Amino acid sequence: MIGAHGNVGTCVVAGAAGIARGLFDHTGLVTGAPEFDRLGLAPMGDLVFGGHEVRDGSFVHSAKDFGDRNGLLTPEIRRAVAKELRQADTEIRIGTARGMGSGVESTASDEALAAAPLAERRERIQDDLLDFKRRGKLDDVVVVNLASTEPTPADQSALASLAAFNDAVERDDGERVPCSVLYAMAAMESGFPFVDFTPACATGTPLLAEAALRHGVPFMGRDGKTGETLVKTVLAPMFVARNFRVLSWEGFNMLGNNDGAVLREPGSLASKVRDKDEALRSILGDDGVHSTVRIDYVPSLADWKQAYDFIHFQGFLGARMQMHFNWQGCDSALAAPLVLDLVRMADLAHRRGEAGPMRHLACFFKAPVQVPEQDFPSQMNRLYRYVAGVHAEASSPRATGS
Ligand SMILES: NC(=O)c1ccc[n+]([C@@H]2O[C@H](COP(=O)([O-])OP(=O)(O)OC[C@H]3O[C@@H](n4cnc5c(N)ncnc54)[C@H](O)[C@@H]3O)[C@@H](O)[C@H]2O)c1
Repeated sequence: MIGAHGNVGTCVVAGAAGIARGLFDHTGLVTGAPEFDRLGLAPMGDLVFGGHEVRDGSFVHSAKDFGDRNGLLTPEIRRAVAKELRQADTEIRIGTARGMGSGVESTASDEALAAAPLAERRERIQDDLLDFKRRGKLDDVVVVNLASTEPTPADQSALASLAAFNDAVERDDGERVPCSVLYAMAAMESGFPFVDFTPACATGTPLLAEAALRHGVPFMGRDGKTGETLVKTVLAPMFVARNFRVLSWEGFNMLGNNDGAVLREPGSLASKVRDKDEALRSILGDDGVHSTVRIDYVPSLADWKQAYDFIHFQGFLGARMQMHFNWQGCDSALAAPLVLDLVRMADLAHRRGEAGPMRHLACFFKAPVQVPEQDFPSQMNRLYRYVAGVHAEASSPRATGS
């Protein structure tokens, strides 16, 4: 996990340990539904966690902080999973923070901010990943980006192809190579699947698609679809199907966690707003819709994010009607099970020899790579068709050898 000690990373480790110990059931995990039972997904207790961080800290500390602020990881739960939290802490290495914006850079350690050349930083990450696999005698490693929202670079020419990327690394042009790309390329060049749960721009670029095919690894992103956008992509198809005309869709989000604090920076905010707005526009297919996506930092809410959406729409006889919804979700409790789902599904895809974008996982993302449909029901159908295909292959005479 890149950004391992963040809220989501901490809930991933504590959640997986809690499930393995029988403290929680599979509620909230997509792969916990019966359709996924016989796919041969990795059992929760077989997962081993590690990753990169740029702040000083520990899972034990982050879990306490999260529990104190949000009330979910209670002292009893933290005691029950303390061994797994401490174990995961032995697998955390120092990441690279240059170019992440002042919000991240002000909390990063000197080592994470060190001005080593890009090639050296990429190689160090790769060494850490390979070492993690070797020492743990692991079957596979799935790299998931859970780092703070990264500003989109003004010049994206290095993300156009492998040749352009290698040239930028050789020239040590840090302006054109964001951290998320260094991590993604280090993962792929090591032969490991890569999942981007953040809005970092790299995942949708030609570079990653080319690298994934070159190295024979599956990847997917970007930006986990956990809350307001999930609801939007369920509701918007209804307005389209009933041939209503959406006039305005205004969304106001408030969140008080560290991600919300980082989003106060204009570069990071732009990355997030882009993904939230594009999904809606693509479903409605009407450039005339007035839409707003606001994200405000409200510290007292901590991880309990609030979204208020106002939808103004027109029906028969020109009747103008309204719909409002209010979503209150615990951001990390929504995200962590999806990260576990994605890890298990990426591991399965890699075992099956798949390479390139895992389009069947579109339903997990606000801006899914190389998938045109944004509406949630179509995306879920894609996933179910994939699962049915895996089952059909497993039961075909050739697969069983009979
Ligand atoms: N529901 C959700 O929580 C949700 C939904 C969609 C996307 N996301 C995305 O997931 C990411 C994680 O969310 P969070 O709430 O855990 O955030 P967080 O701020 O709690 O954690 C992010 C962590 O990343 C670390 N970090 C920052 N830059 C890094 C780098 N270059 N290398 C290594 N570590 C780095 C930070 O120190 C921090 O510990 C964010 O980008 C967020 O936008 C979250």
